[in-house]
Amino acid sequence: MRTTVSRLIQSQSLLSRLSSNGLLRNRRLLSTDSNKIEEPFKVEEAETIKPELPGPEKVLVLGGNGFVGAHVCKEAVHQGFSVSSFSRSGRSSIQECWADNVVWNQGSLLVPDSLKDSMNDVSAVISCVGGFGSNSQMYKVNGTANVNAIRAAAEQGVKRFVYISAADFGFVNYLLQGYYDGKRAAEAELLSNFPYGGVILKPGFIHGTRRVAGVKVPLGIIGSPLEMILQHAKPLSRLPVVGPLLTPPVSVDAVAKVAVRAATDQAFPPGIVDVFGILRFGEHK
Ligand SMILES: NC(=O)c1ccc[n+]([C@@H]2O[C@H](COP(=O)([O-])OP(=O)(O)OC[C@H]3O[C@@H](n4cnc5c(N)ncnc54)[C@H](OP(=O)(O)O)[C@@H]3O)[C@@H](O)[C@H]2O)c1
Repeated sequence: MRTTVSRLIQSQSLLSRLSSNGLLRNRRLLSTDSNKIEEPFKVEEAETIKPELPGPEKVLVLGGNGFVGAHVCKEAVHQGFSVSSFSRSGRSSIQECWADNVVWNQGSLLVPDSLKDSMNDVSAVISCVGGFGSNSQMYKVNGTANVNAIRAAAEQGVKRFVYISAADFGFVNYLLQGYYDGKRAAEAELLSNFPYGGVILKPGFIHGTRRVAGVKVPLGIIGSPLEMILQHAKPLSRLPVVGPLLTPPVSVDAVAKVAVRAATDQAFPPGIVDVFGILRFGEHK
């Protein structure tokens, strides 16, 4: 009996201490006074906690208005990603629904500062920037421009970077030295900056419908049958001198599909994907 009384005295003194310290704002809640009828607990300001749902992954396509780039944008939009493009001329002239779902940014990769804003919140970059011209021009557009993009992406914390490079064509490499030297420089930069999230696609000839000055050129007329025949000729493509010329063409749709998957699937292995790899991954549903 004495112990119970002493416990009651202790709890009363604890309550008064809490009250005087301001820790007990609503005494009704802890009242031990049995004469009072407890009022129901009222929530005056209820804070609703909304769980944050992750938005769609943001993919930036460099050169999204070019032949390959436009197909990559289209594929990424159809897969439900948030897609933006960055190129010198900005918006694509293509009048199709998917193009309205792409944010078209304008700038040059040779002026890296113009790229910074476009990289905000981007989780993956796919570079389709490349081109031909004099040796020094080819080195700049295939090499320097892409090296700048890879460095900017690494600095911004982008997780994955896919670079559309090109298959080796043996002696043709010597005729297009600036082109291939540029490709190799960009590949080396990518492998060192993105050892776990960098993927290099190396297609040979890419076929599909290409727009040249508003006119549709169906490259598939030649490319498709050649692809059918040469895709089974892998051992021949290893022959010295003529072998590289037997590299099978690949469709632009397959390249786009593999590029988007490589950019957005964390399980896609980093490193180089050759023509036969593109054909294989491109068949996956
Ligand atoms: N087509 C093929 O058969 C083939 C085969 C093997 C590999 N590849 C490679 O695949 C990639 C795409 O080829 P593609 O045929 O699609 O080329 P493309 O149609 O000529 O497109 C090139 C894109 O790069 C952009 N670009 C060029 N310089 C730029 C710069 N300084 N800053 C920002 N953007 C720039 C262009 O933008 P603007 O038009 O606005 O200047 C354009 O969007 C290239 O790397 C190419 O080497 C192509």
